[in-house]
Amino acid sequence: MSKKTGASRLTASFALLYDNIRWEEKSIVAAAESRGVGVELVNAKEVTFDLSSKKTFIANSVVLQRCVSHYRNLHSTAALEAAGHRVVNTLECASRCGDKLFGTIALLRQGVPTPRTAVAFTEESALRTADAIGYPVVLKPVVGSWGRLSALLTERTAAVAVLEDREHMAPLYQVYYLQEFVRRPPRDIRSFVVGDATVAAIYRNSGGRDWRTNTARGGEAKPCAVTPELDELSLRAAEAVGAEIAGVDLMETEEGLVVHEVNSTTEFKNSVPATGVDIPGKMVEYVASLDR
Ligand SMILES: Nc1ncnc2c1ncn2[C@@H]1O[C@H](COP(=O)(O)OP(=O)(O)O)[C@@H](O)[C@H]1O
Ligand SMILES: [Mg+2]
Repeated sequence: MSKKTGASRLTASFALLYDNIRWEEKSIVAAAESRGVGVELVNAKEVTFDLSSKKTFIANSVVLQRCVSHYRNLHSTAALEAAGHRVVNTLECASRCGDKLFGTIALLRQGVPTPRTAVAFTEESALRTADAIGYPVVLKPVVGSWGRLSALLTERTAAVAVLEDREHMAPLYQVYYLQEFVRRPPRDIRSFVVGDATVAAIYRNSGGRDWRTNTARGGEAKPCAVTPELDELSLRAAEAVGAEIAGVDLMETEEGLVVHEVNSTTEFKNSVPATGVDIPGKMVEYVASLDR
């Protein structure tokens, strides 16, 4: 169920909750081992959380949440916090980052520049909203990642077709999150915030092959300098959603950078080789610092 590594020489330790061991999780474990930090590996697919007795079978107080599945991630964080664990990121943060509407509201509340966004709850009102924003307009599922099922509605007929399709999908897809299409180069920026520092950033360039620049869709990772503007905005965005470790997505506009989302369980497989920054090492040092 859970396995301790390097337990005999620990100065600090934390639990890593996962549902898939990817490159990211392996590199976090390696970074911890090289620093003499203990990692208790916990497979979320195997544990049960007894809410009444508050027994989680996790020895460490501090838990780094790494579950890929959104709902598993969110709900296991809730159960862990209820049992008294200190989870990175917190439930409040995960709920804001895991739902694009909640995230946008948190960014707007703190005055972080973000694209013009509206929400509608029926096919008809969504179409009216798309007309009001103007085409092309972006329609995104409120829960989702890797650009999946996000649509660029280039004109009204495309909007009618996609909105009609959404009516036949699960209720989540009838929360119509509509956003102005931001005119920008064929790239966006992903910055990494750990604690109170912007530790690295990449450009993600789609080369015009797809309007979405996610590396999961073939967007190419290139190093990006952490300018004072990027640093300040990344930290403000992370703070707005309450993130201690975050992947911040930004776009370049003529008026400056805008933040379109903050990710609370971020991938960094392409960013480490592109930037040469030891992102997992910085994450481990931050999480280990909480084990006092
Ligand atoms: N309003 C927008 N205008 C232009 N491009 C956008 C806009 N919103 C998102 N994109 C592109 O789509 C990608 C995916 O959108 P994002 O909001 O980050 O959702 P996901 O959670 O799927 O990554 C972004 O990285 C960016 O390249
Ligand atoms: Mg994104």
